[in-house]
Amino acid sequence: MTQRFEGATCLVTGGGGGIGAGTAKLLAAEGAHVIVADLSLERAREVAAEIKAMGHAASAHSVDVTSEASVAQLVDESWRENGPVTMVVTCAGIIKIQPFLDLPEADWDRTLDVNLKGTFLVLQGVARRLVREGLQGRMVAVSSVAGRGPRADVADYAASKAGVISVVRSAAMALAKYGMRVNAVCPGVVATEMTYAIQRMRAEDSGGDPDEMLAGAVAGIPIGRIETPEDVARAIAFLLSEEAGYVTGQALNVCGGLEFD
Ligand SMILES: NC(=O)c1ccc[n+]([C@@H]2O[C@H](COP(=O)([O-])OP(=O)(O)OC[C@H]3O[C@@H](n4cnc5c(N)ncnc54)[C@H](O)[C@@H]3O)[C@@H](O)[C@H]2O)c1
Repeated sequence: MTQRFEGATCLVTGGGGGIGAGTAKLLAAEGAHVIVADLSLERAREVAAEIKAMGHAASAHSVDVTSEASVAQLVDESWRENGPVTMVVTCAGIIKIQPFLDLPEADWDRTLDVNLKGTFLVLQGVARRLVREGLQGRMVAVSSVAGRGPRADVADYAASKAGVISVVRSAAMALAKYGMRVNAVCPGVVATEMTYAIQRMRAEDSGGDPDEMLAGAVAGIPIGRIETPEDVARAIAFLLSEEAGYVTGQALNVCGGLEFD
Protein backbone atom coordinates (compact mmCIF):
# COMPACT_ATOMS: atom_id res chain seq x y z
CA MET A 1 0.00 0.00 0.00
CA THR A 2 1.36 3.47 -0.90
CA GLN A 3 1.69 5.94 1.97
CA ARG A 4 0.38 9.09 0.30
CA PHE A 5 -1.04 10.52 3.53
CA GLU A 6 1.70 9.71 6.01
CA GLY A 7 1.73 12.18 8.92
CA ALA A 8 -1.57 13.84 7.92
CA THR A 9 -4.67 13.99 10.07
CA CYS A 10 -7.94 13.41 8.23
CA LEU A 11 -11.43 14.05 9.56
CA VAL A 12 -14.18 11.80 8.16
CA THR A 13 -17.72 12.82 9.15
CA GLY A 14 -20.32 10.10 8.82
CA GLY A 15 -17.31 7.87 9.41
CA GLY A 16 -19.47 5.27 11.10
CA GLY A 17 -21.45 4.62 7.90
CA GLY A 18 -20.63 2.48 4.89
CA ILE A 19 -18.80 4.94 2.62
CA GLY A 20 -17.30 6.81 5.58
CA ALA A 21 -15.89 3.63 7.11
CA GLY A 22 -14.49 2.43 3.77
CA THR A 23 -12.84 5.81 3.25
CA ALA A 24 -11.49 6.01 6.79
CA LYS A 25 -9.91 2.56 6.42
CA LEU A 26 -8.25 3.35 3.09
CA LEU A 27 -6.86 6.70 4.24
CA ALA A 28 -5.55 5.12 7.45
CA ALA A 29 -3.91 2.32 5.46
CA GLU A 30 -2.18 5.02 3.42
CA GLY A 31 -0.70 6.58 6.56
CA ALA A 32 -3.25 9.15 7.79
CA HIS A 33 -4.41 9.44 11.37
CA VAL A 34 -8.17 9.29 10.81
CA ILE A 35 -10.70 10.96 13.06
CA VAL A 36 -13.86 8.95 12.64
CA ALA A 37 -16.76 11.26 13.55
CA ASP A 38 -20.41 10.29 13.54
CA LEU A 39 -23.75 11.01 15.17
CA SER A 40 -23.44 7.44 16.44
CA LEU A 41 -20.39 7.39 18.72
CA GLU A 42 -20.82 3.64 19.00
CA ARG A 43 -20.41 3.15 15.22
CA ALA A 44 -17.50 5.62 15.14
CA ARG A 45 -15.79 3.65 17.91
CA GLU A 46 -16.31 0.35 16.06
CA VAL A 47 -14.74 1.72 12.87
CA ALA A 48 -11.82 3.30 14.76
CA ALA A 49 -11.26 -0.02 16.58
CA GLU A 50 -11.23 -1.93 13.25
CA ILE A 51 -8.63 0.52 11.89
CA LYS A 52 -6.45 0.17 14.98
CA ALA A 53 -6.74 -3.62 14.80
CA MET A 54 -5.30 -3.38 11.27
CA GLY A 55 -2.26 -1.57 12.79
CA HIS A 56 -3.23 1.95 11.69
CA ALA A 57 -4.10 5.18 13.52
CA ALA A 58 -7.62 6.36 14.29
CA SER A 59 -9.76 7.95 16.95
CA ALA A 60 -13.51 8.21 17.38
CA HIS A 61 -15.64 11.26 18.08
CA SER A 62 -19.33 12.07 18.18
CA VAL A 63 -20.63 14.97 16.11
CA ASP A 64 -23.95 16.32 14.93
CA VAL A 65 -23.05 18.05 11.67
CA THR A 66 -26.26 20.12 11.78
CA SER A 67 -24.96 22.02 14.82
CA GLU A 68 -22.26 24.67 14.46
CA ALA A 69 -21.37 24.25 18.15
CA SER A 70 -20.96 20.48 17.77
CA VAL A 71 -18.76 20.91 14.68
CA ALA A 72 -16.67 23.57 16.47
CA GLN A 73 -16.17 21.22 19.42
CA LEU A 74 -15.10 18.42 17.07
CA VAL A 75 -12.59 20.69 15.33
CA ASP A 76 -11.15 21.85 18.68
CA GLU A 77 -10.85 18.32 20.06
CA SER A 78 -9.32 17.00 16.84
CA TRP A 79 -6.69 19.74 16.81
CA ARG A 80 -5.88 19.26 20.49
CA GLU A 81 -5.50 15.50 20.22
CA ASN A 82 -3.91 15.03 16.79
CA GLY A 83 -2.67 18.40 15.54
CA PRO A 84 -3.93 20.21 12.44
CA VAL A 85 -6.65 18.53 10.39
CA THR A 86 -5.39 19.09 6.85
CA MET A 87 -7.76 16.66 5.12
CA VAL A 88 -11.56 16.43 5.42
CA VAL A 89 -14.13 14.06 3.95
CA THR A 90 -17.82 14.79 4.59
CA CYS A 91 -19.89 11.60 4.36
CA ALA A 92 -22.72 12.24 6.85
CA GLY A 93 -26.03 11.95 5.09
CA ILE A 94 -29.64 10.78 5.34
CA ILE A 95 -32.36 9.79 2.91
CA LYS A 96 -36.06 8.92 3.15
CA ILE A 97 -38.21 7.76 0.25
CA GLN A 98 -41.37 9.87 -0.09
CA PRO A 99 -43.42 10.87 -3.12
CA PHE A 100 -43.07 14.56 -4.00
CA LEU A 101 -46.72 15.29 -3.14
CA ASP A 102 -46.39 13.71 0.34
CA LEU A 103 -43.03 15.16 1.37
CA PRO A 104 -43.57 16.98 4.71
CA GLU A 105 -41.86 20.30 5.44
CA ALA A 106 -40.13 18.86 8.52
CA ASP A 107 -38.52 16.08 6.47
CA TRP A 108 -37.41 18.55 3.80
CA ASP A 109 -35.78 20.66 6.53
CA ARG A 110 -34.07 17.70 8.21
CA THR A 111 -32.59 16.37 4.95
CA LEU A 112 -31.30 19.79 3.92
CA ASP A 113 -29.92 20.34 7.45
CA VAL A 114 -27.90 17.14 7.58
CA ASN A 115 -26.83 16.79 3.96
CA LEU A 116 -26.33 20.40 2.90
CA LYS A 117 -25.91 22.61 5.97
CA GLY A 118 -23.90 19.83 7.62
CA THR A 119 -21.47 19.77 4.71
CA PHE A 120 -21.14 23.55 4.76
CA LEU A 121 -20.54 23.70 8.52
CA VAL A 122 -17.80 21.07 8.43
CA LEU A 123 -15.99 22.56 5.43
CA GLN A 124 -16.25 26.06 6.92
CA GLY A 125 -15.29 24.97 10.45
CA VAL A 126 -12.07 23.27 9.37
CA ALA A 127 -11.21 25.90 6.74
CA ARG A 128 -11.56 28.75 9.29
CA ARG A 129 -9.07 27.08 11.61
CA LEU A 130 -6.63 26.27 8.78
CA VAL A 131 -6.73 29.85 7.47
CA ARG A 132 -6.22 31.21 11.00
CA GLU A 133 -3.12 29.05 11.39
CA GLY A 134 -1.81 29.73 7.87
CA LEU A 135 -2.13 26.07 6.88
CA GLN A 136 -3.31 24.45 3.66
CA GLY A 137 -5.91 21.70 3.33
CA ARG A 138 -7.74 19.37 0.99
CA MET A 139 -11.41 18.53 1.27
CA VAL A 140 -13.85 16.16 -0.41
CA ALA A 141 -17.62 16.23 0.08
CA VAL A 142 -19.78 13.25 -0.79
CA SER A 143 -22.62 14.34 -3.08
CA SER A 144 -24.52 11.84 -5.27
CA VAL A 145 -25.66 11.21 -8.81
CA ALA A 146 -29.02 12.31 -7.34
CA GLY A 147 -27.52 15.80 -7.22
CA ARG A 148 -27.20 15.74 -11.01
CA GLY A 149 -30.87 15.37 -11.89
CA PRO A 150 -34.49 14.97 -10.79
CA ARG A 151 -35.72 12.36 -8.30
CA ALA A 152 -39.51 12.01 -7.94
CA ASP A 153 -39.44 10.21 -4.59
CA VAL A 154 -36.46 11.93 -2.93
CA ALA A 155 -36.82 15.57 -4.02
CA ASP A 156 -35.30 16.80 -0.74
CA TYR A 157 -32.31 14.49 -1.05
CA ALA A 158 -31.68 15.42 -4.71
CA ALA A 159 -31.85 19.14 -3.84
CA SER A 160 -29.47 18.66 -0.92
CA LYS A 161 -26.94 16.84 -3.09
CA ALA A 162 -27.16 19.45 -5.88
CA GLY A 163 -26.53 21.97 -3.10
CA VAL A 164 -23.45 20.08 -1.96
CA ILE A 165 -21.95 20.46 -5.45
CA SER A 166 -22.70 24.19 -5.31
CA VAL A 167 -21.15 24.62 -1.85
CA VAL A 168 -18.05 22.73 -2.98
CA ARG A 169 -17.66 25.04 -5.98
CA SER A 170 -18.09 28.14 -3.80
CA ALA A 171 -15.65 26.82 -1.18
CA ALA A 172 -13.11 26.00 -3.89
CA MET A 173 -13.38 29.57 -5.23
CA ALA A 174 -13.14 31.11 -1.76
CA LEU A 175 -10.30 28.96 -0.47
CA ALA A 176 -8.00 28.59 -3.50
CA LYS A 177 -6.03 31.67 -2.48
CA TYR A 178 -5.20 29.94 0.82
CA GLY A 179 -3.82 26.93 -1.01
CA MET A 180 -6.85 24.76 -0.32
CA ARG A 181 -8.58 22.40 -2.76
CA VAL A 182 -12.22 21.35 -2.38
CA ASN A 183 -13.94 18.74 -4.55
CA ALA A 184 -16.97 16.44 -4.51
CA VAL A 185 -17.64 12.85 -5.52
CA CYS A 186 -21.00 11.67 -6.82
CA PRO A 187 -21.48 7.95 -6.09
CA GLY A 188 -24.24 5.86 -7.70
CA VAL A 189 -25.67 2.73 -6.04
CA VAL A 190 -23.30 1.75 -3.23
CA ALA A 191 -23.53 -1.43 -1.14
CA THR A 192 -24.25 0.24 2.20
CA GLU A 193 -27.05 0.31 4.76
CA MET A 194 -28.42 3.47 3.10
CA THR A 195 -28.98 1.61 -0.19
CA TYR A 196 -30.54 -1.42 1.52
CA ALA A 197 -32.86 0.91 3.47
CA ILE A 198 -33.89 2.64 0.22
CA GLN A 199 -34.81 -0.70 -1.35
CA ARG A 200 -36.77 -1.71 1.76
CA MET A 201 -38.71 1.60 1.69
CA ARG A 202 -39.40 1.33 -2.05
CA ALA A 203 -40.48 -2.32 -1.67
CA GLU A 204 -42.82 -1.39 1.16
CA ASP A 205 -44.46 1.30 -1.01
CA SER A 206 -44.82 -0.90 -4.09
CA GLY A 207 -45.35 -4.31 -2.45
CA GLY A 208 -42.25 -5.60 -4.25
CA ASP A 209 -39.27 -7.58 -2.99
CA PRO A 210 -36.28 -5.47 -1.79
CA ASP A 211 -33.65 -7.90 -3.14
CA GLU A 212 -35.31 -8.01 -6.55
CA MET A 213 -35.57 -4.23 -6.60
CA LEU A 214 -31.87 -3.90 -5.77
CA ALA A 215 -31.01 -6.44 -8.49
CA GLY A 216 -33.07 -4.34 -10.92
CA ALA A 217 -31.20 -1.19 -9.94
CA VAL A 218 -27.84 -2.93 -10.33
CA ALA A 219 -28.88 -4.28 -13.75
CA GLY A 220 -29.13 -0.66 -14.92
CA ILE A 221 -25.50 0.11 -14.05
CA PRO A 222 -23.35 0.00 -17.22
CA ILE A 223 -20.32 -1.44 -15.38
CA GLY A 224 -22.60 -4.31 -14.34
CA ARG A 225 -22.03 -4.59 -10.61
CA ILE A 226 -22.96 -2.71 -7.46
CA GLU A 227 -20.52 -0.04 -6.30
CA THR A 228 -18.47 -0.77 -3.19
CA PRO A 229 -17.48 1.74 -0.49
CA GLU A 230 -13.89 1.09 -1.62
CA ASP A 231 -14.75 2.27 -5.17
CA VAL A 232 -15.81 5.59 -3.67
CA ALA A 233 -12.89 5.67 -1.20
CA ARG A 234 -10.30 5.28 -3.97
CA ALA A 235 -11.72 8.26 -5.88
CA ILE A 236 -11.78 10.32 -2.67
CA ALA A 237 -8.17 9.37 -1.92
CA PHE A 238 -7.17 10.46 -5.44
CA LEU A 239 -8.84 13.86 -4.96
CA LEU A 240 -7.09 14.29 -1.59
CA SER A 241 -3.71 13.29 -3.00
CA GLU A 242 -1.02 15.36 -4.68
CA GLU A 243 -1.89 13.60 -7.94
CA ALA A 244 -4.99 15.81 -7.98
CA GLY A 245 -2.97 18.90 -7.04
CA TYR A 246 -4.47 20.95 -9.90
CA VAL A 247 -8.06 19.78 -9.42
CA THR A 248 -10.45 21.95 -7.42
CA GLY A 249 -14.16 22.82 -7.44
CA GLN A 250 -15.03 19.66 -9.38
CA ALA A 251 -17.69 17.00 -8.83
CA LEU A 252 -16.49 13.59 -9.99
CA ASN A 253 -19.10 10.98 -10.90
CA VAL A 254 -18.02 7.65 -9.38
CA CYS A 255 -21.00 5.60 -10.45
CA GLY A 256 -20.09 2.85 -12.90
CA GLY A 257 -21.46 4.86 -15.83
CA LEU A 258 -24.91 5.68 -14.42
CA GLU A 259 -24.50 9.40 -15.03
CA PHE A 260 -22.57 11.40 -17.60
CA ASP A 261 -23.21 15.08 -16.78
N1 LIG B 1 -25.30 4.47 -0.47
C1 LIG B 1 -25.37 5.03 -1.65
O1 LIG B 1 -25.74 4.40 -2.65
C2 LIG B 1 -24.98 6.48 -1.84
C3 LIG B 1 -24.97 6.99 -3.14
C4 LIG B 1 -24.61 8.31 -3.35
C5 LIG B 1 -24.27 9.11 -2.28
N2 LIG B 1 -24.30 8.59 -1.02
C6 LIG B 1 -23.94 9.49 0.08
O2 LIG B 1 -22.79 8.99 0.72
C7 LIG B 1 -22.78 9.40 2.09
C8 LIG B 1 -22.58 8.17 2.97
O3 LIG B 1 -23.66 7.28 2.73
P1 LIG B 1 -23.65 5.75 3.16
O4 LIG B 1 -24.19 4.99 2.05
O5 LIG B 1 -22.33 5.41 3.76
O6 LIG B 1 -24.79 5.81 4.29
P2 LIG B 1 -24.81 5.26 5.77
O7 LIG B 1 -26.22 5.40 6.22
O8 LIG B 1 -24.14 3.94 5.87
O9 LIG B 1 -23.90 6.33 6.55
C9 LIG B 1 -24.30 7.64 6.84
C10 LIG B 1 -23.70 8.02 8.18
O10 LIG B 1 -24.02 9.40 8.45
C11 LIG B 1 -24.24 9.49 9.84
N3 LIG B 1 -25.04 10.69 10.15
C12 LIG B 1 -26.37 10.89 9.88
N4 LIG B 1 -26.75 12.08 10.37
C13 LIG B 1 -25.66 12.64 10.95
C14 LIG B 1 -25.43 13.86 11.63
N5 LIG B 1 -26.41 14.75 11.82
N6 LIG B 1 -24.18 14.12 12.08
C15 LIG B 1 -23.19 13.22 11.91
N7 LIG B 1 -23.34 12.04 11.28
C16 LIG B 1 -24.57 11.75 10.81
C17 LIG B 1 -24.99 8.20 10.20
O11 LIG B 1 -24.94 7.94 11.58
C18 LIG B 1 -24.25 7.19 9.35
O12 LIG B 1 -23.20 6.58 10.06
C19 LIG B 1 -24.13 10.09 2.33
O13 LIG B 1 -23.94 11.50 2.25
C20 LIG B 1 -24.97 9.61 1.18
O14 LIG B 1 -25.99 10.53 0.86
C21 LIG B 1 -24.64 7.30 -0.77
